[in-house]
Amino acid sequence: MSDQPRPACSPTLFSWEFAADPYPAYAWLREHEPVHRTTLPSGVEAWLVTRYADARAALADPRLSKNPAHHSEAAHAKGKVGIPGEHSADLVTHLLNIDPPDHTRLRRLVSKAFTPRRVAAFAPRVQELTDRLIDGFGSRGQADLIHEFAFPLPIYAICDLLGVPREDQDDFRDWAGMMIRHGGGPRGGVARAVKRIRAYLADLIHRKRESLGRGDGEQSVDLISGLIRASDHGEHLTENEAAAMAFILLFAGFETTVNLIGNGVYALLRDPVQCDRLRRALKEGDEGLLATGVEELLRYDGPVEIATWRFATEPVVIGGQRVAVGDPVLVVLAAADRDPERFEAPDVLDLSRADNQHLGYGHGIHYCLGAPLARLEARTALGTLLRRLPDLRLAVEPQEVRRRGGLIMRGLRELPVTWDPST
Ligand code: HEM
Repeated sequence: MSDQPRPACSPTLFSWEFAADPYPAYAWLREHEPVHRTTLPSGVEAWLVTRYADARAALADPRLSKNPAHHSEAAHAKGKVGIPGEHSADLVTHLLNIDPPDHTRLRRLVSKAFTPRRVAAFAPRVQELTDRLIDGFGSRGQADLIHEFAFPLPIYAICDLLGVPREDQDDFRDWAGMMIRHGGGPRGGVARAVKRIRAYLADLIHRKRESLGRGDGEQSVDLISGLIRASDHGEHLTENEAAAMAFILLFAGFETTVNLIGNGVYALLRDPVQCDRLRRALKEGDEGLLATGVEELLRYDGPVEIATWRFATEPVVIGGQRVAVGDPVLVVLAAADRDPERFEAPDVLDLSRADNQHLGYGHGIHYCLGAPLARLEARTALGTLLRRLPDLRLAVEPQEVRRRGGLIMRGLRELPVTWDPST
């Protein structure tokens, strides 16, 4: 994979060959043009930041705004920057699109509802969902791990956490499928799915607010009730803000987790030495390697290849390169997390890597709010899969596994696996 010879001149970015293994091209950029101006497939021009130190600084730089109104081509690029579908719904005030002080206020409010305690209390449910999905494989001895496992797990988990009734969760699964299937392709399907989810959430929030108002929802522990109740200096989220918040939690927490499980299992199954090491540790009841291993999988081939859009609000110099006002800046997390200046032997998967301050969850004020939930889901999913299916292996050659397109996310379209059902 990454021990291929580096291209001698500026590599071709964003092709299908590049998507299969972007790391040699990112190594070239880090070395030769660490802040590289490129034209994206959408036609929008942007700077790619690939070195760890520059990436970390850029993620925390207040002069780089998250608000697309600061883009020099704001009007022209509508629909080409930001997250898919956000232009089709009134999603202007979601966390990944705003700066302080609005961001500070909304993030504080949602943090009050989305607490590590609420997530920890959810552990038995994640385990139950994981076991149910593995039970669903039956005695076939083969499955597509993306469709039958990595995809449904986070959807049901987040629906439960938000408080979406069980009988409606399969609708969510369908809508989420529409969102992800069209990733990188025509936006029509995404827009339709986003509209349906938004309408459903708006209605659910309205019903929950009414029931809380009547006093019969006082005991509700779901996140939507928490969002409605959360207040900061007497200030509450409006119904619209709560709906946008629920949507962004769903959006930010869904495909990322699918890809963490998918890329993670793929990397493990391609590295039998590391995989056996983890299996042995789990068998001996040692959960430590699973915890460091999930962090390492995030660094090694994480779900978010490029952080979401940022725009310079004043002239800034990044890694010696002048970036003009209004220019989009894309921080390439996948490149930064393989930087040899920061990580020893960065192209090697080492599940026990100790010095591992990777940028897979971002950095600074937009640092992933869902990291505790993502960790819980990934540890449960990977740990349970390896325990219950001890000889799990790829059913096809590694290079035959198809990838998904898209700029921000990095993930697989399918992951055919097999195992001996009698063990
Ligand atoms: C932000 C990665 C799961 C909710 C982010 C960012 C990254 C990230 C890189 C920062 C983006 C930027 O600065 O441009 C991941 C990864 C996940 C994951 C790798 C792995 C599975 C989740 C989950 C949730 C979630 C499960 C919630 C249910 C959020 C939210 C933000 C965010 C709300 C925006 C925070 C803000 O702007 O203040 N995530 N995420 N994420 N993530 Fe995650």
